[in-house]
Amino acid sequence: MSRIAGVMARDFTAVRERDPALHSAPELLLYQGLHAVWMHRLAHMLYRADMTFLARLVSQISRFLTGIEIHPGAKVGRGVFIDHGMGVVIGETAEVGEDSTIYQGVTLGGTGKQGGKRHPTIGKRVVVGTGAQVLGDITVGDDAKIGAGSIVVRDVPARSTVVGNPGRPVIVDGQKVPAPDDKRVERLPDPVADVFRALMDCIERLDNEVEALRAGKPVPPGGPGADCMGRAEERIRALTTDQPTFFGDGAHI
Ligand SMILES: CC(C)(COP(=O)(O)OP(=O)(O)OC[C@H]1O[C@@H](n2cnc3c(N)ncnc32)[C@H](O)[C@@H]1OP(=O)(O)O)[C@@H](O)C(=O)NCCC(=O)NCCS
Repeated sequence: MSRIAGVMARDFTAVRERDPALHSAPELLLYQGLHAVWMHRLAHMLYRADMTFLARLVSQISRFLTGIEIHPGAKVGRGVFIDHGMGVVIGETAEVGEDSTIYQGVTLGGTGKQGGKRHPTIGKRVVVGTGAQVLGDITVGDDAKIGAGSIVVRDVPARSTVVGNPGRPVIVDGQKVPAPDDKRVERLPDPVADVFRALMDCIERLDNEVEALRAGKPVPPGGPGADCMGRAEERIRALTTDQPTFFGDGAHI
C-alpha cells in the first residue's frame, strides 16, 4: 500500500515540478494525464496477472474518459507526466522511463503488424514534444528531447535533441550538430542564372578588349573572334523557346 502511495506521490510531484500552468494543489486532481497514468497502473497490474480482458476494459474506460490510450502491456515508469494528453497513444511493448514528459498527440507506436517487441523504449527524463511520432523498436536515450511534430524511426542518442521528419539530432551533449551537406537544391539547373553568367563573362571580355585597344595593346586572347555575345544570345533563345515555366504549357519566360 505504501508503495502505491509512494508512486502516486511521485506522479503528483512530476506535475508540480514540470507544469508551470499549475497554480494550486487541488488542481492536480483535475489532470487527465494523471488519471490516465493511474488507471494504466491498474490495467498493467491486471495484464501482468493474465486478466487481459479486464485490463483492456480499464484501458478503454481510461481512453474514453481522458482521450489517452495506453495499452495495458506498456511499461510506464514513476513520475511520467502526460501533459494535456488528448490523442496520446502508447503501444503494448512500449516502455517509458522515469520522469519523462509526453505531450498531447504523441504516438509511441509500431511500424507495421509484426509481433514481439515493436514499440519504442523511452529512457529517463525524456521530453516527447506534442504530435511527435516515435515508431518501431527503437531506443530513445536518457535526457533526450524529441521536438514537437517529429517523426522518429531510428535510435536517439542520450542527451540529444531530435527534430524533423525524419527526425535527426540537432544537438548532442549540448553541441549543435551541423546540418547534413544537402546540396540538392543548389544542384538543380538554373538556366536564368546560366544566361546571366554568360552575359557577365561577355561584358568582362569586351571590357578587357576595350581597355587593351585604348592602351594600344594587342587584344587579349579569345578577343573579337570569341563571339561571346553570340553564344549568350543562343542561350537566351534556348531559354525563351525551350523552357516551359510554372505558368503552364506554352507560357515562356
Ligand atoms: C525540441 C525542443 C524540446 C527544444 O529543444 P532544445 O534542445 O532546447 O533545442 P533548441 O530550441 O536549441 O533547438 C535546436 C534547433 O532545432 C530547431 N527546432 C526546435 N524544435 C523544433 C521542432 N519541433 N521542429 C523542427 N525544428 C525544431 C530549432 O529551431 C533549432 O534550430 P537551429 O539550430 O537551426 O536554430 C522544443 O523546440 C520542442 O519541440 N519542445 C516540445 C514542447 C511541446 O511539445 N510543447 C507543447 C506544449 S502544449
